[in-house]
Amino acid sequence: MSVLNITAKAAAPLSQMKTQALVVLMPERKSLGAPMKALDKFLGGTVSQNATYGGFSPTIGATCWLPGAGAVHRVLLVGCGDVNERTVASDKKLAEALSRALLSCAATNAIIWTEGISQKVRRPEQLIEQLALQLTLSHYQYSQTLNHRRKPARSLRRVMITPAKLCSPAMAKRAVAAGTATGQGANLTRELVNLPGNICTPRYLAGEARKLARRHTNLSVSILDERKMAELGMHSLLSVGNGSEQPSRLITMKYQGASAKSRPYCLVGKGITFDTGGISLKPGAKMDEMKFDMGGAASVFGTIHAAALLKLPINIVGVVAAAENMPSGRATKPGDVVTSLSGKTIEILNTDAEGRLVLCDALTYVSKFSPEEVVDIATLTGAIIVSLGQEATGIFSNDDHLADSLLEAGIRTHDRGWRFPIWEEYHRQLESPFADLANIGTGGAGSITAACFLAQFAEDYKWAHLDIAGTAFKSSPKGATGRPVPMLVDYLRERSEQR
Ligand code: BES
Ligand code: MN
Ligand code: ZN
Repeated sequence: MSVLNITAKAAAPLSQMKTQALVVLMPERKSLGAPMKALDKFLGGTVSQNATYGGFSPTIGATCWLPGAGAVHRVLLVGCGDVNERTVASDKKLAEALSRALLSCAATNAIIWTEGISQKVRRPEQLIEQLALQLTLSHYQYSQTLNHRRKPARSLRRVMITPAKLCSPAMAKRAVAAGTATGQGANLTRELVNLPGNICTPRYLAGEARKLARRHTNLSVSILDERKMAELGMHSLLSVGNGSEQPSRLITMKYQGASAKSRPYCLVGKGITFDTGGISLKPGAKMDEMKFDMGGAASVFGTIHAAALLKLPINIVGVVAAAENMPSGRATKPGDVVTSLSGKTIEILNTDAEGRLVLCDALTYVSKFSPEEVVDIATLTGAIIVSLGQEATGIFSNDDHLADSLLEAGIRTHDRGWRFPIWEEYHRQLESPFADLANIGTGGAGSITAACFLAQFAEDYKWAHLDIAGTAFKSSPKGATGRPVPMLVDYLRERSEQR
C-alpha cells in the first residue's frame, strides 16, 4: 500500500509558492478578507470573478478549480461555510470534499492554504486532524486482487498543510500525526476486511499479525493453534471451526508503550473470516458480504497499528479470535452443548450465532492480562442494522465511564456510537434447560441478548462491546469503511493523556 505523505509547515508567500495544486480554504462571508484579496490579486482576479459572478458560493464542501499563476499550477477553492459555526461533522464534510476533488486531479503534490480562515477559530487542531484523516482515507484503493492494467492510479504523493495563524506549528504537527496514523490504521483495517475469504483465512490473519510485529519494535505476537486451544479448554471457540478445512487461530498482539507494570487496555476482535451460518445456513443473497465478518478483528489490527505509529504511552493487548464458520459432516449442530474456557456450558441452538461463541473464550482468556479495560469489537448481529442502520456503532457496557468515553471518542471523530441497555431482564432470554446458557435469545432485542451473552464472560473487568455489523462495511459501493478505528484510536489517545 502506498502512503500519502502529509506534513504541517509554514507556507512561503504566494509569489514564491511552488506547488501543483494550491488548495484554498475559503470562508463564506460578505466580502473577501485581506488574505483572500491578496490571493485574488496574485491570481489576476479569478477568485472575485468566480465568487461574484461564477456562481461559486463557499458553502461547506463546495469546490471549484481555478487556473494557477506563477509556480502554482492550479487552484482548488474549498468552501468552509461560516467558520464560527464549525462542527466535527462539517469539518469532516469539508475534508471529504477537498480530498475527493484533490485526488481526482493529476497533481502529485499540493499545499493546503489556511490563511483565508486564519482568524480565531475554535479547535483548529480538529480541522487539521480531519484533513489528514480524510486525505489518508481517500487515498486508499483496494488493489490486491485486481488486474494491474485495471488498477486506477493515484498521482498525489505529498500534501503540505500550512497552519498559518490557525494554530502553532507544533499543534498542527500533532494533529497531522494523529489524523495520518488513524487513517493508516483504518486503511490497514479496510484492506484486511476487503480481502476475500479464500485469501484472508485465520492463518492469513496470524501471518498479518507477525508482519505487523516486524513493523513495530515494541509489538510482539503469539499465536495459539487448535491443539493449544483444546489443551486450554476453548471448546466454544473451537466448535465454530469444526466444519471448516481452515484451522482456527487465537492471535495475541502485545503493544508495550508503557512500563511492564502498567495494566493494558485490551481489544478483542471477532475474526470470522467467512460466515456461512454453518448448519443454520444463511440464505444465498449477499452471502459474499460475510467475508466482512472479521471486521472486528481487522479493527484490532488497525487500532494497534495507529497506536504504535503514535507511540501512545500505554500498554495494549489485542486478541483476535479467528475461525471460519462452515457446514459439513463435522460441523457443530443445533442443540450441541460445548464447554467454554470459563467452564460454563453453552447450548448452541443456532450455529449462525457464532461470533459470541468465539468471543466468549477470548474474553475469558484476556483476564490473564489483568486489563485496565476491555473492549470487544464484532460484526455481531444483523439486528443492530435494524436499530441503528449504517450511522452508529452499537455500544454495550458494564461500566458507565467506559461507555461515556467511547461515546465521546465517537463524537470527537464523527465515528459515532449509541449505547444500549443490557439489563438483567434481557439475560433471562438466554436460559437453557440443557446448559448454563443458550447462544440465542427467545424473543426480540437480538443485539442486546448477544451482548448479554458476552457480558456473562466479562464479569471480572470493565468491559464494553461494540457491535459494528452496520458500520464496518457498506453494501454499495461494496467495501470496508475502516470503522470503528477512529473511535478506538481517539479513546486510547484520551486514555494516554490521562496518565
Ligand atoms: N455475522 C453475522 C451478523 C451480521 C449480519 C453481520 C449482517 C453483518 C451483516 C452473525 O454471525 C449472525 O449471523 N448473527 C445472527 C444472529 C442470530 C442467529 C441470533 C443474525 O444477526 O441473524
Ligand atoms: Mn453468523
Ligand atoms: Zn458472524
